[in-house]
Amino acid sequence: MLLGVCGGIAAYKMAALTSTLVQHGAIVDVIMTPEAERFVGALTFSSLTARPVYTSLWDAPERIPHIRLVREAQAILVAPATANTIAKLANGIADDLLTTALLAARIPVIVAPAMNSAMYEHPATVANLATLRARGYEIVEPERGFLAERESGVGRLAAEARLYDALALALARRASLEGTRVAITAGATREAFDPIRFVSNASTGATGIALAREAALRGAEVTLLLGPTQLEVPAGVRTLRFTTAEQLHALAMEHAVGADIVIATAAVADWRPSERAASKLKKSDDDLTVRMVRNPDVLAAIGERKGETFLVGFAAETDDHEAHAREKLARKRLDAIVVNDVREERGFGTGENTLALLWPGEGRRSLGTAEKSILAARLLDAIEDLRRNR
Ligand SMILES: Cc1cc2nc3c(=O)[nH]c(=O)nc-3n(C[C@H](O)[C@H](O)[C@H](O)COP(=O)(O)O)c2cc1C
Repeated sequence: MLLGVCGGIAAYKMAALTSTLVQHGAIVDVIMTPEAERFVGALTFSSLTARPVYTSLWDAPERIPHIRLVREAQAILVAPATANTIAKLANGIADDLLTTALLAARIPVIVAPAMNSAMYEHPATVANLATLRARGYEIVEPERGFLAERESGVGRLAAEARLYDALALALARRASLEGTRVAITAGATREAFDPIRFVSNASTGATGIALAREAALRGAEVTLLLGPTQLEVPAGVRTLRFTTAEQLHALAMEHAVGADIVIATAAVADWRPSERAASKLKKSDDDLTVRMVRNPDVLAAIGERKGETFLVGFAAETDDHEAHAREKLARKRLDAIVVNDVREERGFGTGENTLALLWPGEGRRSLGTAEKSILAARLLDAIEDLRRNR
């Protein structure tokens, strides 16, 4: 694994963590920022790891260290992560070995901030950490306690056990879906009734994107069928785009049927306008009536061709959630269904959500209330358990 050490007082604590990791059999490569070297000597880490410590892009540039190091590692922990390095990472700046390697990383990245509380609470740092979280980085929050400035506040590096656990979890998860083909549908459909107007819904695709990223981190071969969204597409995932329900239906028949696991999070329009005007409808004083006709039921169509696929649906309901979800579970031949409470638009977009998983025979597991990336991990844990027991 890789350990990225930045220029903060807590840099000295990384010597103890490095020793613990080595004692547990890890092969640890340490990257230090130039500023980190002002706080601890590279020799401390090289002695503990019995390996060279990397401090510059330019020591042996012909070996392209920033690419090689992240390809050889299974996870990277940045600790202590300074406000400066967090800001660079959030903005894609790559001006030293650590930030360049992080930009090239397709492995789980864990960031453990440590800084004075004023720096930690600054809106820039808050926004930068939110950006990293939204991209799926694991943030190990700092603790409240005595800071180097001889005052008490939030900003103290998380305890060694929390850093160790975050790394261990990232590694344990990694290979659990190796060789598994996972197809995920995500986002809203758009059904146009003239060249620029359409009927759609509030889905952003955030849940499906989080699931795709998590499945890819676990080693799955992931295909994401994604509707119109502004959100970033995760690395290492094959993404195919759709706009309408009919396009999604065609993509699903080709790419979701036959997968080992299908998770259908897309909010597919049940109806589409019966006609689409060739040019923009002109404004008039009259009301407009748009006749809607039924769209194909994508989930039911996958269910009919299910074979060995483990098929998971989503039920976004505003009332009587679980009863509706159980009915859908049976009718569409699903192996499990996720219930999502979307009253007052809760559940759409980024941020927290509350989910539960139901399966035939009154099976139920609460996934709790959490950010979508965390819920994605819990949902995949549950799906893996159910498939194992099938
Ligand atoms: C004594 C001292 C302690 C510092 N401690 C921290 C710290 O704990 N966290 C932090 O974000 N910055 C800290 N800084 C500021 C960083 O060292 C500075 O922003 C530097 O540019 C970080 O570089 P790096 O992110 O490339 O390691 C400290 C600076 C000094 C002089």
